[in-house]
Parts: sequence; C-alpha cells; structure tokens
Amino acid sequence: MSQFKGYYPLVRPRRMRRDEFSRRLMRENRLTPDDFIYPVFVLEGKGEREAVPSMPGVERLSIDLLVEEARVCARMGIPAMALFPVVPMEKKSEDAAEAYNPNGLAQNAVRAIKDAVPDMGVITDVALDPFTTHGQDGLIDDTGYVLNDETVDVLTQQALSHADAGADVVAPSDMMDGRIGAIREVLEEGGHIHTRILAYSAKYASSFYGPFRDAVGSAANLGAGNKYTYQMDPHNSDEALHEVAMDLEEGADMVMIKPGMPYLDIVRRVKDTFGVPTFAYHVSGEYAMLKAAGQNGWINEKACVLEALICMKRAGADGILTYYARQAVEWMD
Ligand code: PBG
Repeated sequence: MSQFKGYYPLVRPRRMRRDEFSRRLMRENRLTPDDFIYPVFVLEGKGEREAVPSMPGVERLSIDLLVEEARVCARMGIPAMALFPVVPMEKKSEDAAEAYNPNGLAQNAVRAIKDAVPDMGVITDVALDPFTTHGQDGLIDDTGYVLNDETVDVLTQQALSHADAGADVVAPSDMMDGRIGAIREVLEEGGHIHTRILAYSAKYASSFYGPFRDAVGSAANLGAGNKYTYQMDPHNSDEALHEVAMDLEEGADMVMIKPGMPYLDIVRRVKDTFGVPTFAYHVSGEYAMLKAAGQNGWINEKACVLEALICMKRAGADGILTYYARQAVEWMD
C-alpha cells in the first residue's frame, strides 16, 4: 500500500474504466451489422472480377458474382448495398444517355440482386459521371460549366429507370440544385411512392474521392477537371445545413455527409439540427489510407477501422457507407 497522503480526488472516472464489465455497461454507442451500407462496383460480362489497384481488397464484379456477394452480405446481416457501375468507354457520351438505359448495367444489377436476394436493400447512385465522356456529374456547356436544370432533367430519367428496375433507394450524388424535388415528383408520378431518396446533401469537393474515380474509370475522363462549381467547399459548415434543409424540404428521406472521418463535425451538426436519418460516407480515400498504413504494418488495421467506424456513429451517423462493411462485420464477430 502506498503511503501517499496528498490529495485524493473524490471523482474518479477511472473507476468505471477499471474493468471490462463497467466499461461495457457505460458504453454509449455500438457497431452492429445494421449500421452498414456496402458500396460495390459493377462490371459488364460474366464471371468477371477486377482488382482496384488504389483500393486493395476491393474488386469490381460482374452481375453474377455481385449476386453471390449480395447473398453473403444478406447472411451477414448487412441491410443494404450501393451500386456503382463501371461503364465501358464506348457507352459514354456527351449527353450521358446510357444513364437511363432500362437495360443498363446499374438497372440490370438492381433486377438481378432483387430477384435473387429480395431482402437486400438496393441503393443506386444518381449522377452522370460514369456515363459522360468528360467525367463530370452533369451535362456541360461550351465552357465546360456543368448545366444545372438540363442535368436535373436527365437525373430524373435516370432515377426513374432505377426505380422501374426495382431499386429500393435512389441516391443522388450529383449536387445539382433542385434535383431532390424533381426526382421526388417524377417518382410519385411514376407510382413509385415507396422509393426512398438518400440525398448526398452535404457532398464536399473532396480529394479523398481519388480511388473511387479510378474504380469507376472516370478519373481519366475528368483529367485535370474538378467539381468545385457544384460540390461543396471543404472550408464551409453552415452551407451544409442549408443543403440538408433544402433536400429535406424537397422530399429526401435520408441525408448523407461525405466524406466521413474529416467531416464528423458536419455529421454532428446535421444530426442535432434536423434529427433525421443521417449517413456518413467513409469514402475511397479514407479506405485507401487505412489499408495502405495497415499493409505496411504502420497501424493496426482492424483496430483503426473499427475505431473510425464507431467514431462516425458517435458523431451522430445512423449508418455508414463503407468499403470495409463486409470486413468490419467479420471482425466484429
Ligand atoms: C460521383 C460519386 C463519387 C463518389 C460517389 N459518387 C465521386 C465524385 O464525386 O467524384 C465518391 C465515393 C468514394 O470516394 O468512395 N457521383
């Protein structure tokens, strides 16, 4: 026993931290498989699988293999998958017409997954960047400026084609003004009153999207271009609240903040202000950083990933889109 006769703190937070039982009792947030949306890249063909070099462990899959992946995810308790088509160059165009092809890659993937695994929530990406020759999320004018209202018109057709194919949720990631309202109206008119809209409301013009653009093959098309005239400036926070407010008024069912880890202050503000289903996107660059450091033995990948994910929940996210979804559920078991 120590002979220490100095000051004794009456309040000792360490008492509760001393043993696992009391640490467990006071734990405020938890990760469960219910928290995850699994983003996946879809390829044309059959039996096709391709590694994404800047995202080790992530593969682009053709629809048949994707269906198998969906079965596994459903068994693991993952509620939903988000589909991102990898569109071959010859199907890209200035007007992005392939985006609303009823037999396009995304539409076919939706049908195949809903057929085989009806309980899997299927989320589609509504934006034109996989389909444009210039890699922008919308149609452009002669100066390269992304046109708002003309783009929204195409986005509504794209969203409708996804809903027609059976998508449970459409997720506009384009950041055009007024697109949520326009899509909502077209869905209602089309009889798709149950189709949910997950709005990428606060989507920042982030450099953390690099590996994703490699994965869908839009990086080369975009070249030195950027998305500053429609995605949000990382310096801003109030602007995110404005975007979320607009999207909710226009009929969004869920809102998203993107990227995740560097933007948790936005997640917290949005959750506190609106109290609606709020999601964070743990994006490709965040995945790549954790993966690379883990592979080099510089960090403990499993511990760091699970920490990153629980921090997003603690910040107020009801769910997380993450390329680690499958792996995280395996680790949590
Ligand atoms: C494009 C889109 C992007 C992502 C999702 N949808 C990239 C972009 O805006 O350039 C990024 C996802 C990620 O980085 O993981 N509409």
